[in-house]
Formats: sequence, structure tokens, C-alpha cells
Amino acid sequence: MYDTATDQDKKIIIAIDGYSACGKSSTAKEVASRLGFTYVDSGAMYRAVTLYFLDHNVDLENQQQIAKALKEITITFKYNKAERRFETYLNGGNIEEDIRRMRVSNMVSKVSVIPEVRSAMVDLQRVMGKGGGVVMDGRDIGTTVYPDAELKVFMTANFEARVDRRMRELESNGVEITSDEIKENLATRDRIDSTREVSPLRKADDAHEIDTSYITFEQQVQKIIELARSRMKALSNA
Ligand code: DC
Repeated sequence: MYDTATDQDKKIIIAIDGYSACGKSSTAKEVASRLGFTYVDSGAMYRAVTLYFLDHNVDLENQQQIAKALKEITITFKYNKAERRFETYLNGGNIEEDIRRMRVSNMVSKVSVIPEVRSAMVDLQRVMGKGGGVVMDGRDIGTTVYPDAELKVFMTANFEARVDRRMRELESNGVEITSDEIKENLATRDRIDSTREVSPLRKADDAHEIDTSYITFEQQVQKIIELARSRMKALSNA
């Protein structure tokens, strides 16, 4: 049923960027699973750093504390077969649930503007993508982390659709929240993510834009699989 890449296919890097709550992560995960690729959630890495900073009271104005904390952090992903998902680990502990909570969501943009944090995460993301066969989602994957990615996708959706999507996602995780809280969180993050000095969120010139406001999840996934297939075919014929 699934469209697993064959041995002849080149193991490409697929970069999926866009605003929060456009459906990037769920789409990226499904595309990776159907192609037999590895999925890397770069947002989860910034969330993991944020969780560590919060739990260890790291002062965001103090460069020494930030540098020390970054040295103490190890982030890995492991596939949970029962849940059928990749989960994020911080220094060996599973933090997948903790990093989705609002205390982290409300702080993560402030942590991800810090140049030292970005540089450490970008280095790690490049190591994780070595060898290809990777779908990585985030804000700056196609512009900064992998400017040479063989396929770049930029996902968008109108604000209402994004609020709706995030509301359903949090409710299904048992988080009680009002739509006003979600609106405020998304609007603030949009502003910080797209105006920060280092690697702001922007569409790479050669990225394919997909507006997910009025298409189904399956259509989103199919669209990217088709783009990936044709890219892999062109590269193996080159
Ligand atoms: O995709 P997400 O909502 O889990 O990302 C959490 C935050 O991390 C987001 O507000 C911006 C930041 N981020 C980033 O700056 N660069 C990335 N490549 C991925 C996420």
C-alpha cells in the first residue's frame, strides 16, 4: 500500500517548513513513514532545550549559563512501536508529553531566538540528516539547515484553520485550553519566529508552497509523496 523508496532511489532530504499548526509535523511523519525515511522534528529539539532551561532556571540573558546548559543537553529520538510515533528524549528521559505543554509552548520562541541555541541545534540537525533519507520539519530547514535539500516544501494555512487544528490536537491530548489562548500563542510565535534576526521563518525561493486550509490530510501527504517521487526519479536518472 505504501510507497516505500526502492534501493535505486536516491535517499533525498525533504525539508518541510512553515508556521506552527499548519499540519507540518503530522504530514512530515506520514511522508517519512510511507517512504521508509527517518523523521526529524526540529521543533521538538527547540522545545527540549526550552524544557531544560525552564527546569534548571537558566537565565536567558546569561550567556555563560546558556553555554553551560547546552553542553549538558543530549537530545535523541526513538521510535515507539506501540504508539507508532517518534518520541523525543532529553538526557535519556522521554519528554514527548512535557514538551507539548503550554509552559513550553509559551517560552519556546524566546529560547529559539538565542544564536547559541540555534547554532547548537543546526549542528545537531545536520548530523541527524547525514546520509539522506530524511524528512525534517521546522522553520529554517530549507533556508539554513539544508539549503541544498533536494525537496523543499513550505506549508501554509489560514489563521482560523490553524487555531482549529491546534485546539483539536491539544484537546485530544487532554489539555484544557480556550481558543483565545491558542490565538494569542500562535500570533505571538508567528511574530517572533518571522522577525527574529537569526534564521527567521521564510519560504525558500525554491520551495513548493502548499496551502493546507482546504485540503485533506491525505491530499497533503500525497502531494509531497508525488513531489518526492518525481525528484528521486529525476536524480536517479541523472
Ligand atoms: O514546530 P513547533 O511548533 O514544535 O516549534 C516550536 C518552536 O521552535 C517554534 O515556535 C519556533 C521554533 N523552531 C525554530 O525556531 N526553528 C525550527 N527549525 C523549528 C522550530
